[in-house]
Amino acid sequence: MRNFEYYNPTRIVFGKGTIAKLAELIPADARPLLLYGGGSIKKNGVYDQVIAALEEFHVEEFGGIEPNPRYETCMKAVEKVIAEKCDFLLAVGGGSVLDACKFIAAATEFEGDDPWDILSKWVPVEAAVPLGAVLTLPATGSEMNAGSVISRDSTNEKLFFGSDLVRPVFSILDPETTYSLPPIQTANGIVDAFVHVVEQYATFPGPNPLQDRQAEAILKTLIEEGPKALTNPTDYEVRANIMWCATNALNGWLSLGVPADWAAHVIGHELTVLYGVDHGTSLAIIEPGVWEHQRDRKREKLIHYAERIWDVTEGSDDERVSQAINKTEKFFQSLGIGTRLSDHNIPEGACEIVAKRLADRDMKIGEHADLGEDAVKEILRLRI
Ligand code: NZQ
Ligand code: ZN
Repeated sequence: MRNFEYYNPTRIVFGKGTIAKLAELIPADARPLLLYGGGSIKKNGVYDQVIAALEEFHVEEFGGIEPNPRYETCMKAVEKVIAEKCDFLLAVGGGSVLDACKFIAAATEFEGDDPWDILSKWVPVEAAVPLGAVLTLPATGSEMNAGSVISRDSTNEKLFFGSDLVRPVFSILDPETTYSLPPIQTANGIVDAFVHVVEQYATFPGPNPLQDRQAEAILKTLIEEGPKALTNPTDYEVRANIMWCATNALNGWLSLGVPADWAAHVIGHELTVLYGVDHGTSLAIIEPGVWEHQRDRKREKLIHYAERIWDVTEGSDDERVSQAINKTEKFFQSLGIGTRLSDHNIPEGACEIVAKRLADRDMKIGEHADLGEDAVKEILRLRI
């Protein structure tokens, strides 16, 4: 096991009716800015619950944060934070609203020339407005992690930054808020959580049996509960288990002491920014390709995964690896997600374009940090 440090100060408030606790969680003298997306919270009653819980506060609002949040929108919110002298940010929505909130928190306090540097140059965040969250879409783990992913129109980039200073002070997770999710977003969330786990698990073997079994617990639960959320969207226990799986998949816990891949995420972000594919869907397309391309180097772990997760105990090593890949792809498809580039009208030329863009940024990805332009092209070609 590699050395590690673990720090996670986010208070999780989980369960039915927990939005009512907001007033206890936000400092009594705070002047909060409520951040939200395209309006789903106004249709499903979450907005009303938040406003009711905050009746004692002077609440400013900033709506219209788009999926795959844009830098340009975030900077408008920064102006609002400053103009209205808000001193607490409350994100209410999915990963996009939470990620935007994190960036806004950091950009508001940024003292350098250009807040984009936080994302493009990883200029360290020295201060951030405190933030909390009400999560409505289990997927990204943003509710309990230090990460944020922001896109910029003018440069067509989608970049990541992380800082302990933008960890939510609290996150409210009420599974009932997820009943209104469109099936495709439920499916995207399940795939996103699943791929977060395997990116930290399907690498090369290490003496990490605890991390392996924690990862496997999440994968098994997602496989068992995920389809039920699609057939019975208002099953509280199903929604609750999926929500908790997604948080645990990317709250830093699984990565302790183990190698991580993240190739599917890096390539997937390019598909999103160039072709508008949802984040979860991009992973369902790419992950089987990463495994196929890396099947020799990931062999031992994929055989282990095939047995533990899919009960594959027979066949040659090669056959078992193939089963691991096929069963995973079929699972994604069973949730209603097309797993090929062609399912999403992404042209074949994308293989070269994406590979070149990553090469231009000098990206070397995968758990060995050595997959460059040719490898990315080949991975994508496997997914046409
Ligand atoms: O904008 P609204 O109207 O709220 O609608 C959203 C949006 O259209 C809708 N939605 C959310 N909750 C709903 C709902 N509709 C009905 N009922 C509800 N309860 O769902 C749509 C998608 O929302 P979005 O927040 O974009 O989805 P998700 O949570 O999957 O977030 C995706 C973003 O997170 C980033 C992705 O790259 C992408 O930009 N990620 C963030 C990570 C992190 N911070 O650690 C890691 C991830 O790997 C990922 O990269
Ligand atoms: Zn993800």
